[in-house]
Order: sequence, then C-alpha cells, then structure tokens
Amino acid sequence: MAIERTLSIIKPDAVAKNVIGQIYTRFENAGLKIIASRMTQLSRAEAEGFYAVHRERPFFKDLVDFMVSGPVVIQVLEGEGAILKNRDLMGATDPKKAEKGTIRADFADSIDANAVHGSDAEETAKVEISYFFPALNVYSR
Ligand code: TYD
Repeated sequence: MAIERTLSIIKPDAVAKNVIGQIYTRFENAGLKIIASRMTQLSRAEAEGFYAVHRERPFFKDLVDFMVSGPVVIQVLEGEGAILKNRDLMGATDPKKAEKGTIRADFADSIDANAVHGSDAEETAKVEISYFFPALNVYSR
C-alpha cells in the first residue's frame, strides 16, 4: 500500500476533554506518524473556508460555531494507507453509529461534537493539508 498523508483535527470537544494524548497514542499505535502539528483557535473565516463544501447544508452554522468554540489541534498523519487508516480509527460521523473502540465511539458525544476530523480521500487530503500547512510539500509523495 502507498505511503499517504492525511489531515486530522482534534476538535474543541476532545481538547476540552483532555484526550489529545490518548488520540495521539491511537495514531502512533496504528503506525501513523505525526509529521506536522499545531494547536490553534480557528477564526470563523478559517472554519468556514475549511468546511466550504458544506456551506449549503443545514448544519453549517452550528458546525462553524462549534469549530471556533475552543482550541483545536491540527496534524498531518503519514503512513501506509493513512487516509483510510485514520478514517477507520475515527469511526462513523455519528458516534452512536461508530464501532466500539473507535475514537468517536469512545470520546464523542454527538454528531455535531464528534471529536475528530479526517480527510476522506486523496484529493481532499491534499487540499486540507495545504490549507493548514502551506509550507509542507504535500506533493513530495
Ligand atoms: P461529514 O464530512 O459528512 O463527516 P466526517 O466528519 O465524518 O467526514 O461532515 C462534516 C462534519 O459536519 C461532521 O464531522 C459533523 C458535522 N455534521 C453535523 O453536524 N450534522 C450532520 O448531519 C452531518 C452529516 C455532519
């Protein structure tokens, strides 16, 4: 399988729950390397830009409100099949439907406060990585 990079965000609910380290351990135990990382408070413009594909959805305003409600930790994960591997670690969007042992099943409370973001495909991973880490050469692999 190819070495890939994917964008991950630990969302405000999980930061508030003090589980950054536990989530990082899951990435590391799955063989994913954290090759870039930063903690930040997103501005509304940054959150709206990041979720622009969802701007016509009914949940868009609540999603942006949530993403700016507290600090987040943004990282680039690298490893074999990193995009799908991270999605598997995360579990389903709705934590009630997420498989036991996944990040969302264990740490998230609801579909709108669901602990983590992860890119869902190669193209979105490239766009999302360059959105938050413009200096990282995402095309090097
Ligand atoms: P989506 O890209 O569908 O899910 P995922 O994060 O698993 O890739 O949706 C983006 C985020 O939007 C999701 O993590 C939480 C929020 N959201 C809601 O608040 N309500 C919803 O009904 C959906 C589908 C998403």
